[in-house]
Amino acid sequence: MFSKIVKLVVVRPCTHQCFMEGVTHTLEKYIINGGFPLQGEVTISGAKNVAVAMIPAALLSDTPCVLENVPDISDVRIMIDILKQMNVDVQYKEPGVLAIDSSHLSGTTVPYELATKMRASYYFLGALLGKYHHAEVALPGGCNLGNRPIDQHIKGFEALGAETELKGGAIIADATELTGASVFFDQVSVGATINVMLCACKAKGTTTIENAAKEPHIVDIANFLNSMGAKIKGAGTDTIKIVGVSELKGSTYSIIPDQIEAGTYMVMAAATKGDVLVKNVIPRHMECLTAKLTEMGIGIEEGDDSIRVYYKKRPKKAMVKTLPYPGFPTDMQPLIVTLLSVAEGTSTVTETVWDSRFKFIDELKKMGADINVSGNMAMITGVDELYPAPVKATDLRAGAAMVIAGLMARGTTEIYDIYHVERGYERIVEKVKGLGGDIQKEV
Ligand code: EPU
Repeated sequence: MFSKIVKLVVVRPCTHQCFMEGVTHTLEKYIINGGFPLQGEVTISGAKNVAVAMIPAALLSDTPCVLENVPDISDVRIMIDILKQMNVDVQYKEPGVLAIDSSHLSGTTVPYELATKMRASYYFLGALLGKYHHAEVALPGGCNLGNRPIDQHIKGFEALGAETELKGGAIIADATELTGASVFFDQVSVGATINVMLCACKAKGTTTIENAAKEPHIVDIANFLNSMGAKIKGAGTDTIKIVGVSELKGSTYSIIPDQIEAGTYMVMAAATKGDVLVKNVIPRHMECLTAKLTEMGIGIEEGDDSIRVYYKKRPKKAMVKTLPYPGFPTDMQPLIVTLLSVAEGTSTVTETVWDSRFKFIDELKKMGADINVSGNMAMITGVDELYPAPVKATDLRAGAAMVIAGLMARGTTEIYDIYHVERGYERIVEKVKGLGGDIQKEV
């Protein structure tokens, strides 16, 4: 449909700025006066990593979609800017309720600089290729967690009949026709699983994804696509089957609560010796964390859609190894390391998903943590307490870990580079204040 238009689009060369995630560093900081237990209730927002996939997924529909429980975070704002620049009618009907009408989409090239600002822009590849058989998307940005290849995404697109090339810093994917195929991932990947699901929804015939990721996001995206008329079975297991359909129609769909945001407030409650009811969670999604916190001696009470976390005594040491779902999530690794930094004894944390996710440990050490990193393992000898220091958020979850550390340390901690945190945490300052935390954002 857009083949003539897209061939004329010139991919603009990237500036130095956009490789720095397109985000201008500012002097914005959080100032935390810590040392007080957090108490009260906090309500969890919609899942970031679902929202950033569901927004591109909505382009597969022939009629408008409405997404509910969309978190107001900077990654979502970038997604909305991308859609607006592509002439998609996107607007909030009310807070958290986003209507997307792509009937006037102007082409299949995602604006270069916006795409480089975030990792999840790669979902435009699967969605646009699936619907229009053509997509041009700059290599994605996002948190710097080390090597972040997208070879498995490409492998999936090519199995379905697309040709891909890297040109001018952008990936160009093109297909005359997409035909269902068997895709066996060499590596379990959340992004590749979702991207191939998006691409396969409208392909001819059946696609089978083997060694698929099983995260709750995968199930939520599959449910959304099915609500639009897709035929996806097996999401949440190793094998996903997608029978291609000729059209998808708009639907109204509510995004699940953010598992990692929930984990952040759960760890925050334990780490500040507090007592917090974390509301709007799916306790089943939190099992890896609740089991670990229980093992460490933290009080946990599960409700139907809430979890109370309360401090009983100094946490015990633990061994943690990050793994794809249902294992311990890598995105909670900086949070648990921060809690273990004051646990009794020596703990070990092994990071198996990302090869460079321990950068925040240098920041935590500035606050008195006793941690030795060797390869992908951190040995954490619990100290009695952390003390305040100026630190920076080295990435999104590392930034959340610094907020927790600041709330633990008696005195004033300043956290810089907080734009990382605001990519993924809705109203974090307000939520922490609601729990009695003394945190200010200085602009
Ligand atoms: N990998 C490959 N080839 C690929 C894709 C991934 O080798 O084609 C490797 C990666 O290098 C990594 C592992 O597979 O070692 C897992 O990567 P995955 O593709 O699952 O990660 P992702 O989809 O890029 C999402 C989340 C991350 C989260 C990971 C793992 C989004 C937008 N991001 O990334 O979230 O850490 O899954 O659960 O959904 C965060 O929210 O802070 C965050 C970084």
